[in-house]
Amino acid sequence: MENEKILAAQESVNYVKETMIVGLGSGSTAEHMIRALGKKVAEGLKIKGVPSSEKTARLAQEVAIPLITLEEAGTMDINIDGADEFDPELRLIKGGGGALLREKILAHNSKLNVIITDSSKAVDKLGAFKLPLEIIPFASNSIMAQLQKMGLQPVLREVGGAPYRTDENNNIVDIDILGQEELDTINQKLLGIPGIVETGLFLNYTDILIIGKGDGVEIVKRKS
Ligand code: 5RP
Repeated sequence: MENEKILAAQESVNYVKETMIVGLGSGSTAEHMIRALGKKVAEGLKIKGVPSSEKTARLAQEVAIPLITLEEAGTMDINIDGADEFDPELRLIKGGGGALLREKILAHNSKLNVIITDSSKAVDKLGAFKLPLEIIPFASNSIMAQLQKMGLQPVLREVGGAPYRTDENNNIVDIDILGQEELDTINQKLLGIPGIVETGLFLNYTDILIIGKGDGVEIVKRKS
């Protein structure tokens, strides 16, 4: 799968043109893309990047991609990011790496969203991958109790025996949405619970999906 990630990442940087402001996703596929973009910058391409996580910022600095903040950027020309699952309607589950909040903010503020994945992430129905939610630590017990009542089998993500902390110092809860028919409805219900900051459901953002498949890539574009 690593080679498929590399192929998708290499294809995605062809969409990046001179002087663009580029949203830089997080995760292993996005890291391949950042390295490929770093090579283009070394060859003379002039761009600015907006990182979606501290880890991405460190890698971008390592490969000498000039960085600016979201406030400085305003709107990005293009945002390139990975995914944990995608369905035939180009809807996504993201957040496996815990960066979903900043990733969704970048996706929302970009003119073009390009998603890069390997072929193992394709599903007919989202939800085999547990849906990550970013939640405020202050409310974590009451949110867990509400999610449990809703039958969503919440699990608080932990690292080394302590609750995982995002770059925004929040927690992540992973829930089971496989039985949910209406993704928009469940997404709205979740966002209606005070203390849930964002969900990993990216239902309407993908413009171009680049899937590494074997020795090549498949490119799927949003039907307008
Ligand atoms: C991080 C993400 C990543 O894009 C997602 O987890 C995919 O990661 P990888 O490219 O390592 O498979 O959403 O929050």
